[in-house]
Amino acid sequence: MSGPHLRDFNRIVFFTGAGMSAESGVPTYRGAGGIWKEYDYRRYACQDAFNRDPAAVWEFHNYRRRLVAACAPNLGHRIIARAGQRETRVTVVTQNIDGLHALSGSRDILELHGNLWRVRCDTCGVKQQDPHEPREQLRCDGCGGWWRPDIVWFGDFLNDATLHSAKQLISSCDLFVSVGTSAVVYPAAHLPEYARAGKALRVEINPDETPASELYDVHLRGPATEMLTRLADGDPQLLDPA
Ligand code: OAD
Repeated sequence: MSGPHLRDFNRIVFFTGAGMSAESGVPTYRGAGGIWKEYDYRRYACQDAFNRDPAAVWEFHNYRRRLVAACAPNLGHRIIARAGQRETRVTVVTQNIDGLHALSGSRDILELHGNLWRVRCDTCGVKQQDPHEPREQLRCDGCGGWWRPDIVWFGDFLNDATLHSAKQLISSCDLFVSVGTSAVVYPAAHLPEYARAGKALRVEINPDETPASELYDVHLRGPATEMLTRLADGDPQLLDPA
């Protein structure tokens, strides 16, 4: 007996959160050892904090760069990247800012919350890639304004075009796989609704139940690497919603 396999789908969206990178050693945000348990986002991850004390906010983000620089993509990232190298259209819609999907070879990636390795001038808006850790140059060459990490902080808006593309892709996919998100941060947490409206098969990979669990047809309760391995191997019972 054989259930559906990844190759049976035409358009797959992997919707990923911090749990995707947990097995690479990148801390998640919530739960034990979560970033927001130790660091108050009101001091380190919002525009007001940056306006008050850009150096302190940069110190926090340099710390995060250091953490991520010590991590490599895990087997789960690589399985997703490999799926995208076949004929199936595979898109990664990620809330992660760590860049590990791109590093593992995924090509079609929408980063909803920006990227830790890109900076944006807070005054003139020009952007720059910067793989260095720590970021040392804090003033824009062009206008003298402050560089800030080009990531979405609390209270910031998501990029309109990125969000729009994510909604379109999710509405038209036939398999939607959520991996490692607590589903509490909006508007990202609303995106699985588009997969439901589009009648995609919806799979949630997470060791724990989430507020969005009822939106999914299949719940794979376990770590991302193990569950993605079973998915890629075509485990016959895995995608059977019955
Ligand atoms: P969270 O830290 O809120 O949630 C991580 C989820 O991953 C939890 O539901 C865990 O149960 C799950 N998890 C942990 N280890 C896992 C593993 N090995 N395999 C699979 N799942 C695992 O992270 P996000 O949902 O990504 O935003 O957080 C959403 C947003 O909140 C982030 O993008 C960030 C944060 O504030 C910004 O910074 C704008």
